[in-house]
Amino acid sequence: VPETRLFAPATIRGLTLRNRLFLAPMCQYALNDRDGLANDWQLTHLGARAAGGFSLVITEATAVAPEGRISAEDVGLWSAEHEDRLARVVDFVQSQGAAAGVQLAHAGAKAGTEPWLPGYRGASLSAEQGGWQTFSPAGINPVSNLAPSTAMSRDQIQDSVGDWVAAAQRADRAGFDVLQIHAAHGYLIHQFLTPVTNQRTDDYGGNFDGRTRYLREIVAGIRDVWPEHKPLMIRFSGSDWVEGSWSIEDTSAVLNHLPGVDMVDVSSGGIGDVYTGPKPGPGYQLPLATRIKTDHPDLFVSGVGSITSGLQAEEALQETGIDALSIGRAALRNPNFPVEAAAELGFAKPDLPYAAQYWRATWPRN
Ligand code: FNR
Repeated sequence: VPETRLFAPATIRGLTLRNRLFLAPMCQYALNDRDGLANDWQLTHLGARAAGGFSLVITEATAVAPEGRISAEDVGLWSAEHEDRLARVVDFVQSQGAAAGVQLAHAGAKAGTEPWLPGYRGASLSAEQGGWQTFSPAGINPVSNLAPSTAMSRDQIQDSVGDWVAAAQRADRAGFDVLQIHAAHGYLIHQFLTPVTNQRTDDYGGNFDGRTRYLREIVAGIRDVWPEHKPLMIRFSGSDWVEGSWSIEDTSAVLNHLPGVDMVDVSSGGIGDVYTGPKPGPGYQLPLATRIKTDHPDLFVSGVGSITSGLQAEEALQETGIDALSIGRAALRNPNFPVEAAAELGFAKPDLPYAAQYWRATWPRN
């Protein structure tokens, strides 16, 4: 069996991961009842990818409050019933040898949209379509085709921090091993981080200290209730590629002020109408993750973006020195991405970690 970085186990706090391939959080828009209650789709989708060999299976953006859902069909975690629904998914994911991660999220001004409608460009649902009033740090939207958002009062900000913490407690009770805070892609935390949308004049805005306050309070509140043995992870847009907005230097700097965070997933983008970043392609976001790993060698850093093969993933880990890769669309196409990556890298039967039920998949091999 060859030695690879991709299939080397990793231990973070009390959690051991079997390899370095994570299922990226991906909204499924699957809850037709619009109640935020995870259903058999989440069980099947996440369960298949746990059986397919991912070491960490992360839920789609899971809203800490109903008004924070990206679409009306998103999963939420704002009540005990939501917790119970997710507990069933967690149990199955763990039974397949994978760790279960939850991505907690609040979309802020980007809430209440219909991402799958024809011609979709991030537009808000109308009231007749079931849309709702959205909130943002200063009533300024991150992209222009959204319905007007309302600036949050200080009380609303503090209540919102409480929503994150309460959702973290539910995530723990549901059995999740890893909690990922969604601070990327132009959603509410990112709306606080960047001066483009955060033009508040109180101490939740203004300078770097003010703009990072909402995130710092969320992290501190969550770390207080999230068990000591469980890793805490953050997903950032390492850069949103907008001049004068949130940069890789800011991402690296804020990590000096987030004690208790163990893992960072580095994505990009989400602010502004026109994309001005590097041409998307294999590994195009990895330099951002590499920079974070260089600046913060003690953090467990994962990268993401257009990783489509085991060989590419292995080479990326060797070349960049980062710790893991999140796989998005390639994992939609192929739930067995890790198992097939193992085959590609020369693991031979019986080392191919197909689910036990699929042992015939490798025999006879033709
Ligand atoms: C996403 N992405 C995403 N990101 C996130 O942080 N939370 C989410 O809920 C979603 N939802 C989502 C849905 C769908 C259908 C796609 C395709 C993507 C972004 C995703 O996690 C990943 O960063 C990108 O897809 C880039 O990785 P790939 O697809 O190039 O491997």
